[in-house]
Amino acid sequence: MCGITGYIGKRDATPILIEGLKKLEYRGYDSAGIALLDNGKMNVCKKKGRVDVLAEEISKKPFKANLGISHTRWATHGGVTDANAHPHVSSDGKFALVHNGIVENFESIKTFLTKKGYTFKSQTDSEALVNLIAYHYDFRTDESLENRFLEAVRKALIHVEGTYGIAVISKEKPDEIVAARKGSPLLIGIGKNERLVSSDVLGFAGRANNVIYLDDGQIASITIDNCDIISIGNKPIEYKVKEIDWELENADLAGAKHYMQKEIYEQPKAIENAIRGRISDDASTAILHGLNMTAQEMRQVDRIIFCACGTAWHACLVAEQLIEKYARIPVEVEYASEFRYRNTPIEKNTLVFVLSQSGETIDTLEALRESQRKGFKTLAITNAIASTISRESDGGLYQYAGKEVGVASTKAFTSQVVICLLIALHIGRMRDLSYTAGKEIVEAIKKLPNLVEETLQQAKHIEEIAKKYAFNEDFLFLGRLDEFPIALEGALKLKEISYIHAEAYPAGEMKHGPIALICPECPSVIFANAEDVLSKVVSNAQEIKARKGKIIAITSFPEAFEGLADDIIQLPKMHDCVRTIVATVPAQLLAYYIALERGCDVDKPRNLAKAVTVE
Ligand code: M6R
Repeated sequence: MCGITGYIGKRDATPILIEGLKKLEYRGYDSAGIALLDNGKMNVCKKKGRVDVLAEEISKKPFKANLGISHTRWATHGGVTDANAHPHVSSDGKFALVHNGIVENFESIKTFLTKKGYTFKSQTDSEALVNLIAYHYDFRTDESLENRFLEAVRKALIHVEGTYGIAVISKEKPDEIVAARKGSPLLIGIGKNERLVSSDVLGFAGRANNVIYLDDGQIASITIDNCDIISIGNKPIEYKVKEIDWELENADLAGAKHYMQKEIYEQPKAIENAIRGRISDDASTAILHGLNMTAQEMRQVDRIIFCACGTAWHACLVAEQLIEKYARIPVEVEYASEFRYRNTPIEKNTLVFVLSQSGETIDTLEALRESQRKGFKTLAITNAIASTISRESDGGLYQYAGKEVGVASTKAFTSQVVICLLIALHIGRMRDLSYTAGKEIVEAIKKLPNLVEETLQQAKHIEEIAKKYAFNEDFLFLGRLDEFPIALEGALKLKEISYIHAEAYPAGEMKHGPIALICPECPSVIFANAEDVLSKVVSNAQEIKARKGKIIAITSFPEAFEGLADDIIQLPKMHDCVRTIVATVPAQLLAYYIALERGCDVDKPRNLAKAVTVE
């Protein structure tokens, strides 16, 4: 989703800001822009399209500045046009602003300002905010000149309903950037004789080794060598400076063609990282200190709720099956976007988990807050270190999967499922799961990186299959038990990056309606790795065959699909508890190769954003 970068220092700001924007491209955007303060002049350049288009345009201009802000916009209010791109400049020309989030009451702000003589060039909510800042700057002449800019931003924000991560510069104060956040991440990077602002550590492009994470309701005044933070209620805030672990944030392609490809291949490593130090061979259990719960507290849990969005929601569905099976605790899975408004009844001994790769998804963050407001212990599984969700949760587990740049989540999903399996083992061993059963799971988990590695060897074969089906416009994905969630995940991957219509069902549900879709042009991808229901899945495949549907079977039991499936992707034999993780890999590769065959940009799929920070 939208990205912010800002720079104040001694160097030429333009290349630094452009490089920052390029690092944020993965988040998804449709236009880009930059504002620079050059000897009291506010220079702005903004273009719809890629950052390269902006860079090309700006290279024609003689801009030189040591201070500026820039933005990649993912359209919410108003179409994709140059005028709607950020930065937005106040109608008096004094302020420029970049904004992530949504100003929900922008219409009333605009009406108020229009009456006061302010004018608007765009259809955006953000332009209302920059003019509101200009209004407060002019209205309040009683502030000392020193903090008048900061005060104008603060006073404007008091009137804003909605969410924001903003960076603002002013002709009136050419040695300062003011940044603020509410519901949309904003970070301040500290370099030598320079400060950077970004909505994501990557936006610092390696130029800062230390970072300050703004919390909601905080406003920062940033100069070349200082940073003061106040609350929206005008109280000084003491803040912590954290070191950036650039190894975990590394986002180079490292020879891969696409981030998605790189990340699919990083899964064995991501799984190793997820389990490192978290397994006890002696006790046949998982050691999960991050949950911050004693065995006694854990034993009192009667029910677990999982909340997430998209791919992470699919991981929750797998978690439901794993925890119910091994820990025998009822689990419910909620879309985070629904949970926050649905007012789900939660009983006394309920534990809530939220899952989020980015740790910034606004729906998941609000689900976490809603659960905490109701007094429930709320734990988080996140990949992004120090993300808002991880900071606000009552405990949780990091995935340590390394930076995921591909918009289509891959390694984050499998590593989330691994973490959920560890949780199932951990709670299960406190309850009904025997030492022997626990040991089998421990051994299966330890073999996982190799199993995934082995499955990745099938890439060439999967690429060939992809070529056969790349131009079909409809797909069905089918699986039973915990393979239904991975059918959903397989369908989502295909939709996201190849724009093929794909639906997923529990295989047994097919005959209740979706079977009407079966025809030679609508292939079915069938996950068949659960031995206990294998014969049932084979029967479902027969029903498809009888209607001339094509079948791609992803199975550890290839013999069962001989003469039945048109294509078989053979998986190694494995313990039940890990099958979803291994079987997801071919589905990711299938989607990847189909998208390539169709000429799609797999790392920048249309309309999608990596971290969805608006509702
Ligand atoms: O960062 P999160 O895990 O909270 O993101 C949730 C979804 O937005 C995300 O999984 C989305 O569905 C991906 N594009 C899936 O590939």
